[in-house]
Amino acid sequence: PPLEVNARDGLLFEGVPLHVIAAVAGTPCWITGAGTLRRRANALKAAFEARNLPVHFHFAMKSQDHQATLTILRDCGYGVDIVSGGEMKRALHAGIGPDGIVFSGVGKSDLELREAVEREIRQINVESVEELHRLNEIARACGKVARAALRVNPDVDAQTHDKISTGRAGDKFGIEHRRAVELYAEAATLDHVQLIGLAVHLGSQMLTAEPFRQGYSRLADMVREIRAAGHPIETIDCGGGLGIRYKDEVAPPPEMLAGVIAETLGDLDVALSIEPGRWLSAPTGVLLSRVIETKAGNPDFVVIDAAMNDLARPALYDSWHGILPVAPAAFSDALKPWDVVGPVCESSDIFAKDRILPASLKRGDLVALLDTGAYGSVMSSTYNSRPFAAQVLVDNGRWEIIRQRQTVEDLIAAETVPDWLLPAHG
Ligand code: LLP
Repeated sequence: PPLEVNARDGLLFEGVPLHVIAAVAGTPCWITGAGTLRRRANALKAAFEARNLPVHFHFAMKSQDHQATLTILRDCGYGVDIVSGGEMKRALHAGIGPDGIVFSGVGKSDLELREAVEREIRQINVESVEELHRLNEIARACGKVARAALRVNPDVDAQTHDKISTGRAGDKFGIEHRRAVELYAEAATLDHVQLIGLAVHLGSQMLTAEPFRQGYSRLADMVREIRAAGHPIETIDCGGGLGIRYKDEVAPPPEMLAGVIAETLGDLDVALSIEPGRWLSAPTGVLLSRVIETKAGNPDFVVIDAAMNDLARPALYDSWHGILPVAPAAFSDALKPWDVVGPVCESSDIFAKDRILPASLKRGDLVALLDTGAYGSVMSSTYNSRPFAAQVLVDNGRWEIIRQRQTVEDLIAAETVPDWLLPAHG
């Protein structure tokens, strides 16, 4: 595990004392562990290799899109799953070639599609018949043939939080699975789209095998149907979704996913790919924060300098993140329940209720919010004029600030006031 405690320095992350990072980088501060990221990237690959299942790995970079993260994963042999033109530029900038890029998303603009087609990325996952035709026109205008997959909605309940379920009938994603054969036939008549296969994404933070099994079995049926209708299928994109333990969940190992994919799709003679985000990146990150104030009452509050604008997940999804003190003494102190909150002026700016932490917590103490590497910094905003926090990479004993803390001056500098609002010059 990336976290350990010693008597001199308190909490360490991948061997680096967190108090040292806080002293230099300030708080709040996102920390990414390169060693943890590499270890997980390799463990995931090993799970599929053990099944003798060749799979392309596309990191869902929406979960964490820093150039350093992408560089590390590129070096582990990963491509990316992107959902915008911005992510495409970031991936290319990090040296991930077009052949390592899969473009998902329910609303790709003309410009985004054109850039993807011109770059000849590996695969564009088309979400509707309308998009299929639009892609065909855009590719025609570029003089190209776009490689596309149909994203189908398999109508499976991922048994996860409502806001991160994506594969139920009525969710906005994908093409109704019953229409896949018909659309495949329609695509075959288009000159500038080459349909190479199918894609699904069932949901996120999935903790059981069953929805994966249902979704992929349905996909396998579709492959057989489409082939029976005379169309070729070379590739299947299985999406992401593998969950992790935040609190006390029993999280399945990647071997589970490899096993289900092997059993349901393994003998179809297609190129397989997966798009994990959270499983790879969540445990690689902590959000380091300092106590601004404690507030005695009922309940007792500890107000920290990170807030919902930094880490939005608790406010958005009621998600649970572990919270640890950093000071060495804190680990032997008496404990009591605290409500851990941020300074933002909203009642939803709460990280934890009744969380058992040292009774001695006081102004100036450091705390670490755990498993914030996925959907953490990437979902930050500057609400309440709170600039984006600094980011740090820890790698095998070394560490470095990899994104400077934004300043309020940066925020103001991006704004202009129209002339007519300014007092006329004398
Ligand atoms: N592929 C597609 C098409 C997706 O939409 C997603 C996530 C993934 C892959 C990666 O899923 P993962 O392996 O990370 O579960 N902000 C939410 C999560 C939203 C996930 C959206 N789609 C959260 O903080 O829980």
